[in-house]
Amino acid sequence: MYRTHTCGELRLSHQGQQVTLAGWVQAIRKFGSITFVDLRDRYGITQLLFNEALNDKLDENPLGREFVLQATGTVSERSNKNPHLPTGEIEILVSDFTILNRSAVPPFTIQDDTDGGEDLRMKYRYLDLRRNVLKKNLELRYAVNRAAREYLHRHHFIEIETPFLIKSTPEGARDFVVPSRMHPGQFFALPQSPQTFKQLLMVSGYDRYYQIVKCFRDEDLRADRQPEFTQIDCEMSFVEQEDILNMFEGMIKHIFREVKGVEWDEPFPRMSWEEAMWHYGNDKPDIRFGMQLLNLKKPEGVFPEKQALSELINGAGFRVFDEAETVLAIAVPGCADYSRKQTDELAEWVKRPQIGIKGLAYIKYQSDGSCKSSMDKFYTEERLLQIAAACGARPGDLILLLAGPEEKTRKAISELRLEMAERLGLRKKDEFKALWIVDFPLFEYDEETNRWVARHHPFTSPRPSDVETMIKNSPVIENPSLYLQHPYARIKANAYDLVLNGNEIGGGSIRIHQRELQEKMFQALGIHAEEQQRKFGFLLGAFEYGAPPHGGIAFGFDRLCAILGGSESIRDFIAFPKNNAGRDVMLDAPSPLEEEQLRELHLKSEIQH
Ligand code: AMO
Repeated sequence: MYRTHTCGELRLSHQGQQVTLAGWVQAIRKFGSITFVDLRDRYGITQLLFNEALNDKLDENPLGREFVLQATGTVSERSNKNPHLPTGEIEILVSDFTILNRSAVPPFTIQDDTDGGEDLRMKYRYLDLRRNVLKKNLELRYAVNRAAREYLHRHHFIEIETPFLIKSTPEGARDFVVPSRMHPGQFFALPQSPQTFKQLLMVSGYDRYYQIVKCFRDEDLRADRQPEFTQIDCEMSFVEQEDILNMFEGMIKHIFREVKGVEWDEPFPRMSWEEAMWHYGNDKPDIRFGMQLLNLKKPEGVFPEKQALSELINGAGFRVFDEAETVLAIAVPGCADYSRKQTDELAEWVKRPQIGIKGLAYIKYQSDGSCKSSMDKFYTEERLLQIAAACGARPGDLILLLAGPEEKTRKAISELRLEMAERLGLRKKDEFKALWIVDFPLFEYDEETNRWVARHHPFTSPRPSDVETMIKNSPVIENPSLYLQHPYARIKANAYDLVLNGNEIGGGSIRIHQRELQEKMFQALGIHAEEQQRKFGFLLGAFEYGAPPHGGIAFGFDRLCAILGGSESIRDFIAFPKNNAGRDVMLDAPSPLEEEQLRELHLKSEIQH
């Protein structure tokens, strides 16, 4: 045995005991003839004291940072206690030590607030992972994993592995592909998710399946996206939407209870996709704070059930608003005293290419109840006050207004809302607000190809009340400019997302389980009969042998962990992530193949390395 105890274990109650510890040298402090060493392992840090008697041995075997050290000695009470360390009341009076391995000088300091930049830390990820912050993140990840498994096991789910070398699964991203040596010119695709397999398992009768599984998507990266990421992937048979929402709301609540000690007494609120878009401009609204949108103008046909308050802005001769498709506003609490410089800065913020709005109008609803506005020339104070009131503003609030094309403006105000909340500290990391988004449209219109595309994936079933509309109507869009009037534009999906603090952490649907409806769906998406057979023949075939009604959901495991850990970057919760350019800088991958390997795979590279 290399050790009798860990570096996080010893307390005053162990005083006088002879112990052996093993770990890494975190810090060395020399005071005259005495040397203190902080020894670190996964469990904590313990102070070692080397007195004069060991000086000769230390001179012969000098220690350095990150050396692997084994030390034997007696637990003694510290004269200078450290209340910040669990082991801070004791130290080990070292009688002998062995250097188990030396270390080169690490490229950055291994402590919470390290001096290493992201690139350096990624290159030496094995050193980065020695840091306490990352260790805590991985421990949290494991706790979430265990809690999820515990809950699912208790509810009679079984974990079944599905293959990685498969045929394309359409989840909306590009596939990573693997060339086949044995079958020249042919390729496997890595799964974007186990979607079709879990459906096949339902056909096989495994009515409660789960898998904590890697998924692979070749898509543009963001803080909350990785090319390979992990899902808690689940599927159930003989269920309706309500059953799924209840089962998995239970799982999330269980995870929060086990991992964070957070009790969620109330059911998660539910909001239709339309409500979310109307009130937040976004289908993953952060509801930790208000600042809902005021819809002052919208194009005809969009949100047909909703009424914008156009009377508040019409007829004033303000061209920007008169010419815009959409005008939206939010009331930012307590910011009416923003200076000209500050409002100018906000105007610049919305003009950035990522947001792309031409300008920003504002109303300062001042504490004395009066209004000052960038639109003073066009609107009377009475009108400005009416807008402020419709926005739900209180004296002291700043109302921000954006105008432009529908989609862009809605997205922009949603971003602005989040930005203002961030600046005001309203996006608190330790506050958790979840909600279900339901009633998504089944289809989205793709202008470029003049076709319908699946909003979730092609296996999602329409709401039962919309099945008829789908079957009866042809998907062909005769007049692209009138696509909103096509019956398919109104079809809602039997699909749901779980949103936590403004992040989509899970999504799923009740599936189509009849061959005819699945064929109709493929047809609506422009996948003709031959292609259906070639790509999805196995699934259509399975539906002929008694497919039960079924549905499911998948959670972004990395995202869930990151939010529980108070971060939005999932990289910090993955042991060996890719960097923001999609590279593994530690392995230096991806990298070119040797000629010989290319030949074996029957591939030719156009790029000369
Ligand atoms: P979906 O594509 O919505 O659904 O994925 C489910 C959840 O996975 C997470 N996620 C990601 N996390 C990190 N990096 C990525 N690149 C990434 N992409 C997605 C999100 C998302 O909510 N088969 C369906 C599920 C189903 O219908 O049952 C699916 O994969 O948190």
